Amino acid sequence: MQHFICSLLTALLLGAQSTTAAPTNETSQACTEIKNALPGRVLTPGLLEVEYEYETQQYWSTTLRTIDPACIVQPESATDVATVVKILNKYPTVKFATRSGGHDPNVGHATVQDGVLIAMTNLTGATYDAARNVAYVLPGGEWNDVIGDLEPSGVTVAGGRLGLVGVGGLLLGGGLSFLSAQEGMAADNIIEWETVMANGSVVNVNAAEHPDLAQAMRGSGSQFGIVTKYTAKVHAIGDVWGGSCVYDATEDNKLYAALHNFVANGDEDPKAAIIFTSLIVTGGVTTNLVYYFYDGPTRPASGPFADFFSIPGLVCAPTTQKYSELLRSNGEPVRLLNARVSFRVSSPIPSSHPLLTKRKTYTIPYISTRPQMYAEIRNELANITAPFLTTLRATQFSVDFQPLPSLFGRISQSKGGNAIGLTASDPDRLILEIQGAWSLASDDAYAYSLTKQLTDWLDVQVPLWLEEAGMSRDMYLPFFINDAAGDQDVFKTYRDYDKFKALQKSVDPNGLFSGRAGGFKY
Ligand SMILES: Cc1cc2nc3c(=O)[nH]c(=O)nc-3n(C[C@H](O)[C@H](O)[C@H](O)COP(=O)(O)OP(=O)(O)OC[C@H]3O[C@@H](n4cnc5c(N)ncnc54)[C@H](O)[C@@H]3O)c2cc1C
Ligand SMILES: *[C@@H]1O[C@H](CO)[C@@H](O)[C@H](O)[C@H]1NC(C)=O
Ligand SMILES: *[C@@H]1O[C@H](CO)[C@@H](O)[C@H](O)[C@H]1NC(C)=O
Ligand SMILES: *[C@@H]1O[C@H](CO)[C@@H](O)[C@H](O)[C@H]1NC(C)=O
Ligand SMILES: *[C@@H]1O[C@H](CO)[C@@H](O)[C@H](O)[C@H]1NC(C)=O
Repeated sequence: MQHFICSLLTALLLGAQSTTAAPTNETSQACTEIKNALPGRVLTPGLLEVEYEYETQQYWSTTLRTIDPACIVQPESATDVATVVKILNKYPTVKFATRSGGHDPNVGHATVQDGVLIAMTNLTGATYDAARNVAYVLPGGEWNDVIGDLEPSGVTVAGGRLGLVGVGGLLLGGGLSFLSAQEGMAADNIIEWETVMANGSVVNVNAAEHPDLAQAMRGSGSQFGIVTKYTAKVHAIGDVWGGSCVYDATEDNKLYAALHNFVANGDEDPKAAIIFTSLIVTGGVTTNLVYYFYDGPTRPASGPFADFFSIPGLVCAPTTQKYSELLRSNGEPVRLLNARVSFRVSSPIPSSHPLLTKRKTYTIPYISTRPQMYAEIRNELANITAPFLTTLRATQFSVDFQPLPSLFGRISQSKGGNAIGLTASDPDRLILEIQGAWSLASDDAYAYSLTKQLTDWLDVQVPLWLEEAGMSRDMYLPFFINDAAGDQDVFKTYRDYDKFKALQKSVDPNGLFSGRAGGFKY
């Protein structure tokens, strides 16, 4: 409730800054028609329209909370979404967007100014079907909902590593999970997608009937349809071991050595997973933050995972707990950060703007002869951001090193393959997530140019590193959609780009998804 009031205050304050809504006549007509077709499920702006305001605040990035749709539809079923899509087809100039959890920070992906927003708020949670041994997962809400709903049945599904993250978008972007070394990408475990296609028909996409489409759904974001239900293979789960540790910079060498070993050899024990974050904060101070996960009540005593635990942490809290508890505690500090930031808008703290964050992705090879690579990348980011981080306008920049061992591709292929093109012959790689946080909207372009400087630098360095190591320069390094910035041409990095582009065009000939909504495009 406190969170709600906080969000509402923010909404009213931010609302004052945003421009007066000016939907086109066609948009107003479309909204009216949708409202008549789905009474009680469509919200429109107005003074004291509390539920509408509440919906506009359901975004991770505070930047997105100033955007006002002409109307917000809260569907209860695939049929409701089909009704909306059919009406949208009658109004070809009307823009729209689909939002599940609202964690994609890119403007215009899950947001639409003066258009129709389809919000999955009322399609949330999961149920276990013991007869089929599958879970039905709804796109709205967060992973906390899904994991919590399934836990009493002793099962879970591969999904987000921080419980507060959204469900629908993560599954359409492939999805990195703590269970990926056992189950592949989160999307590899989806076997049916209840999907509203561009023509308004509801199709239960599955590999038997639609092999190409089923592969396309694993990593193509919003481009093939609006998914209202996922059928997922389950993974038996009991107590797990995990949590995060923060380290002093004096431990850098040992930590990067442990990371280097884990990327190549972590698959010796697929129950183990890490997220390794190198942080650079105001003034250029660096720390490492590592999230640990082990699919069992006690962590192993030796091996690549255990090697981390001989390195002393400043603050270190992994423990044996329920999976739902681990995901919740991984996510809650991040939520608090966000709430505090929202609060700052209405507080006397000098920064009068919310904290802005942007992300950018990059995939790099594992190079056995280059254990210094992680420190080189972190140091380059530190150098690039130094002038900004000496001001009080920037809070932190970070790079996450997320192992993508060849094992993931083996599992992906065995489960039918995905759009990202992960296969059994893949090398070991890492997915980088580069993130920054700053306080002024006027710094947006500058801050963004800094993360771009790092990826431009990597464009030059990675081929050199490969050559120096005697490895092929044209290694397959697809971008990871879930961590990507809006201007990164993610799908062009996919090996089957042409095939999926043609498939997209064939199921969406009038460009409903490719032309009238935002998001990554083929
Ligand atoms: C704190 C944090 C932690 C994260 N951790 C992870 C992680 O562990 N693993 C990982 O893989 N990713 C992670 N991510 C990235 C995350 O997967 C993406 O941000 C993802 O888009 C979130 O899903 P969502 O439902 O919130 O998407 P939204 O922001 O709601 O939507 C994202 C895109 O998908 C489209 N979309 C959403 N729902 C549907 C639907 N039902 N049908 C069709 N299109 C739809 C939207 O139109 C939009 O283009 C993390 C992000 C954050 C902020
Ligand atoms: C839009 O609707 C308003 C009010 O109904 C009307 O006055 C205006 O002429 C319309 N504009 C267009 C371009 O049709
Ligand atoms: C949809 O969800 C919202 C938020 O949880 C709730 O207030 C509303 O009553 C729900 N609508 C319906 C029709 O159930
Ligand atoms: C960072 O900058 C310092 C000082 O200019 C320089 O000595 C160092 O080589 C730079 N590091 C990298 C990784 O470029
Ligand atoms: C709608 O599109 C889907 C996917 O292309 C197709 O399978 C279906 O037959 C189409 N339905 C109609 C009524 O045209």
